[in-house]
Amino acid sequence: MNEVSESSAVVRPIAHAPCRHWRVEYGAIDTTGRLIAAEPNQEIALLTIDVAGQSTNALSREVMEEFDRSLSDIANRGVQGLIIRSAKASGFIAGADVREFENVTDAAQAAQLARQAQLTLDRLPAFAFPSVALIHGFCLGGGLEVALACTYRVALDGAGARFGLPEVRLGIHPGFAGTVRLPRLIGHVAALDLMMTGRSIDARTARRLGLVDDVVPERHALFAAQTFIQRRPKQQRAPWTRRLPGFRPLRPLVVRGLERRARKQADPDHYPAPYRIIDLWRRKAPAEEEAASLGELLVGRTSRNLVHVFLLGEELKRRGRRHPHGIQSVHVIGAGTMGADIATWAAAQGFRVSLQDQQPEILARAVARAAGFFQRRFKDARERQAAMDRFAPDLAGHGLRRADLVIEAIVEKLDAKRALFAHIEEAAKPDAVLATNTSSIPLESIAQGLGDPSRLLGLHFFNPATRMQLVELVRGRQTADAALNRARAWTVAIDRLPLDVASNPGFLVNRVLTPYLLEAVKLLEDGVAATAIDQAAVDFGMPVGPIELADTVGLDICLSVAETLSGPLGVPVPQELRELVAQGRLGKKTGHGFYRYDAKGRPRRPRRINSGRLPRHIPIMERLVLRLLNEAMVCLRERIVDGPDAVDAGMVYGAGFAPYLGGPVRYAESLGSTGIGHSLYRLSQEYGERFSPDPGWSQPELLLRAVSPSD
Ligand code: NAI
Repeated sequence: MNEVSESSAVVRPIAHAPCRHWRVEYGAIDTTGRLIAAEPNQEIALLTIDVAGQSTNALSREVMEEFDRSLSDIANRGVQGLIIRSAKASGFIAGADVREFENVTDAAQAAQLARQAQLTLDRLPAFAFPSVALIHGFCLGGGLEVALACTYRVALDGAGARFGLPEVRLGIHPGFAGTVRLPRLIGHVAALDLMMTGRSIDARTARRLGLVDDVVPERHALFAAQTFIQRRPKQQRAPWTRRLPGFRPLRPLVVRGLERRARKQADPDHYPAPYRIIDLWRRKAPAEEEAASLGELLVGRTSRNLVHVFLLGEELKRRGRRHPHGIQSVHVIGAGTMGADIATWAAAQGFRVSLQDQQPEILARAVARAAGFFQRRFKDARERQAAMDRFAPDLAGHGLRRADLVIEAIVEKLDAKRALFAHIEEAAKPDAVLATNTSSIPLESIAQGLGDPSRLLGLHFFNPATRMQLVELVRGRQTADAALNRARAWTVAIDRLPLDVASNPGFLVNRVLTPYLLEAVKLLEDGVAATAIDQAAVDFGMPVGPIELADTVGLDICLSVAETLSGPLGVPVPQELRELVAQGRLGKKTGHGFYRYDAKGRPRRPRRINSGRLPRHIPIMERLVLRLLNEAMVCLRERIVDGPDAVDAGMVYGAGFAPYLGGPVRYAESLGSTGIGHSLYRLSQEYGERFSPDPGWSQPELLLRAVSPSD
C-alpha cells in the first residue's frame, strides 16, 4: 500500500478515545497517492484497519465496536467521502474472528452480535457521502460484507485480491447482511454459488461479475478511490438478466435446482448451512432474519465441530511458522503416484523441484500430469509457465546435489529405500534435510547404515498429495529437532498442515484407518456388497467409502501397511487382500481392484443402492466406526501424537473423517466413553476379539484436552 505522508496530512484532533485497530486521517489525495492538507469542504476520510497484534485483519467484537466509533467520528467531521483500506500485507479483511465463535454459547446472543455488526455496516450506505473499499489480498466473509456495504469497491491489480463468502465451510452463512447485498450487486445465481460453495474469486472475475467497480495499479489506487468519490458514478447493480431468477414465479424453480445441487454435495442433517442460504433467499429474508438464522447455526453441532477443526488447522500452521525452513530447492525421488504429486504441488507453491525416477516413461507421465495440474490451477499463462519452469524432470538425479530437502517416494521396500538413502547421504549437501514418504516402514530401519541419521525424518503425504492437506511429520528416535523444525516450516510454506507423530507402525492416520479398512474387507467376506459398505460410510459422512478408499490408496500399499500393522494390532491380514495383490489387481492405478475403473478413474458400480436393500442384520457402520474409534483410543493412550486434538486434526485432514463430527475423539466424547466401551464389548461377543474395548475407554481423562501439551 502507498504510505500516507504523515508530514503532509492534516491531523486534526480526534474527538473520541483512540482506536487500537483503526486509524482515521483527513485530507485529500494528490496525484502521487499522498494524503495532503485540504480545505474542510474538500476533505475525505481515510480509514485504515490494522488489527493490533495480528498479521491478518479479522473482525472481532472489539474491532467492530471501534469501527462504529470511527464512523461516528467521520460522520461528525462532515467529509466529502470515505476510503476504507487495510495496512496489512496479507490483505483487506479475512473475515470475522473465528476464535470468538467458540465462546458464543447462546443463539440469541450470537444473533444480537451479528445484528449489531449489521447496524454498523448499515451506516455506510446511509451516509450523505460515498464510501470506497480499497482492496488487496483477502477480502473474505465479514470483510467482503464490509466492502459490500460501501458505495464502491476498487481492487488493486496484481495484489492477489481474493473475494469470497466462505462461511459455509464453518457450518454457517454470512451474517453481516451479505445474503441480502450480494445478490443485488452481482445477481442471484452468482451470489448463491459463492455463498453455497464458499469458493473465492480473483479481482478480474470479481470485476466481470460487477463485484468490484475497478481494478487499478497500486500506485494509482488512492487517487482512483478519491476520483470515485468526486465523480460519484452510478452504483453497480446486476443487469436484469441476472436479476431474473429472483422474480417471484421463477424462485421455486431455482430453489428446486439449488436443493438438488446441495443434496449432491452435503446431507442437510450433517451440513444445514447451504439449505439455510437457500431458504433465506427463497423467503427474501431481511437482514434481521439472516442474523437470527446465523445465531442458531453458530451454536449448533455442525458449526461447533467445523470451527474446532478449522482452529486445529490454524494451530498446526502456527507451530510450523515458528522456525525458518531455509529451503529453496527440493529433490523428489520416485515419480509414481505420490512422488509426482508431491513434486507438482511443491512447484505450484513456488519451490524449485527436480523429480527423479528410474523409468523415463514414468517420469514423462509425471510431467504430463504436472502440466495438466498447472493448467487447471493457474489461469494466468505466465504463472503456469513459471510453475512448469520450476518443475524439472531429472532422470540422472542431478538435482540431488543442490537440494535443501530430499524426499524419497520410491516403492515400499526396505532394502530399496536403505540402498537409496546410502547414495543420498553421499551425494546430498551436508545440511540438506532427508525425508522419506514411507507409509509403514519404521524410520529407524531406514536410517540403519546412515552416517548421520539425525537429519532423516518422515514427511508422510496423503493420496492425492495435491489435495490432501495433512502431512505427518515423523520423528525417528535419532531425528534432530533442527531437521524437524525446518521440515515443519517447509510443510506450512507449501500450504500443508504438519502433524508431529511418533515413529510407530502406521504413524497415526494409517494406524487408525487400517482396522476400519480391514473391517470393510471382513464385511465383504460376510457377504455384504462393496457398494453397500461404501454407501453406509458415505451416508455417515466419510468422503468416500472404505472399499473405494483402499482402491485409491493402492491395494499393494494397503497390504504392506496391513502386514506391518497386523502384529501390533493383533489381527490377521484378510486373504482376499493378498489374493487381489497377487493377481495384480492393485486398485485404481491398474484399473481394477475391488471395483473396476474407467479410463478417468471412476468406479464402475451401481450409483446408489436403495437403502431398503442394505442388510439390516449386519451393523455395517457400527462395526466400521467402532474399530476406528477403538484404534484412535489406542493411539491416545500410547501417545502416538500429543493428545486428542492431534488425533482429530490428523483424521479429519488426513483421512477426511466426517468433518461435521469434528474428528473421532470429538465424536467419541459426544457418544460417551462408557457407551462406546459397552458397544465394543457387545460386538466383541458377537464378532470376536478384534472388538475388545481398549482399556483407555475406562480412563476418561485421556479424552480431556488438557492432556494435550500445548506446545
Ligand atoms: P509407486 O509404485 O506409484 O511409485 C514408486 C516409483 O518409484 C516408481 O515410479 C518406481 O519406478 C520408482 N522407483 C523405485 N525405485 C527407485 C529408485 N531406486 N530410484 C528412483 N526411482 C525408483 O508408489 P507410490 O504409491 O507413489 O508410493 C511411494 C511411497 O509413498 C511408498 O513408500 C508408499 O508407502 C508411500 N505412500 C504411498 C501412498 C499411496 O496412497 N500410494 C500414501 C502415502 C505414502
